Amino acid sequence: MFDNKVTIQDVKLRGQTVLVRVDYNVPMKDGKVTDDLRIRASFPTLELLAKKGARRIVLISHLGRPEGKKVPELSLKPVADRLKELLPGKKVFFVDDVSGPEVEEAVESLPVGGILLLENLRFFPGEEQDSAEFAKEIVDATHADLFVQDGFAVVHRAHASTDAITKELPSVAGLLLEKEVVSLSKISESPAHPFVVVIGGSKVEDKQPLIDKFAPLADQIIVGGKIAADGYTTALKNVYVAEDFSDDKKMDLGEVSTEKIVNFVKNAKTVLWNGLLGAAETPEYATSSTKLASTLGETEKLVSVICGGDTSGFVENLQEKQPDLHFSLVSTGGGAALELLCGEPMPGIESLDDKD
Ligand code: 3PG
Repeated sequence: MFDNKVTIQDVKLRGQTVLVRVDYNVPMKDGKVTDDLRIRASFPTLELLAKKGARRIVLISHLGRPEGKKVPELSLKPVADRLKELLPGKKVFFVDDVSGPEVEEAVESLPVGGILLLENLRFFPGEEQDSAEFAKEIVDATHADLFVQDGFAVVHRAHASTDAITKELPSVAGLLLEKEVVSLSKISESPAHPFVVVIGGSKVEDKQPLIDKFAPLADQIIVGGKIAADGYTTALKNVYVAEDFSDDKKMDLGEVSTEKIVNFVKNAKTVLWNGLLGAAETPEYATSSTKLASTLGETEKLVSVICGGDTSGFVENLQEKQPDLHFSLVSTGGGAALELLCGEPMPGIESLDDKD
């Protein structure tokens, strides 16, 4: 999917004003960012832009689903504050609009190498309408020379900041987008065997396409989480559905299932994991998910790809406590990762410039 797309590695950046679509749709509580995985994941691109001499960096993102209206709780201002904390050596600014004179002024007064984050794109109806006019307003106000798509988690949407904007500017992929797409495509096209797919979570309708897609490709599919607790059954021969639970309410897997899952994973060369095995947001019910994550993170020479918001967040938290754990990819994509794995169209990738 990616071989033919231009990336920031291929283009001239010196002296350019670069408009970067990031996905800073991060969990928040009481006006504070509670998980900054998606913010940190954008840093390799920001660092490369700075290294290659980009003059100004303007970031655009959405947060939540305000449906075209200004919802103060969904302002990106707290995200800009977090960005400042995480990048103490950088000059980071925020402006509470996405176009017009205020944005123009903020861009013009941006120091060389400075970063400006604009307000939530979804405060404006044009974003989800994939409006050419809205995209043009952003480009005009920012005087951007180049558009970089690095918001992997949103490229399954055809919105102004993933589609219409690419008609206004040369448009290339950022490093996060490239890394996610290459890793997820490899696992869905040519995984090293034995290949084990672990599916958890709560909604069977979300996960069935993944099971159907990977059943012919995987040596072993494992089903845990609420789906298993609710009695998932299938005629597929290579599916193991968790068989015991930790308590009457089936909030976590039991010892027998956990042990079997750990053994499947230890003998694998590639593991794809989507969906927690129990209600792991409560530490009491996090035993099976913790054992799985630790096994994945400790097993050398294993390609391990983790995806889905809850699962990636859980693994990241564990990694903070156990920095020695290593994973090949902790994806920032929720719906985007699932859709890409299932071979759905990705408008935000297709719209980027092709090589030659
Ligand atoms: C996500 O969190 O999956 C992305 O930011 C996309 O958000 P959306 O589902 O509201 O489009």
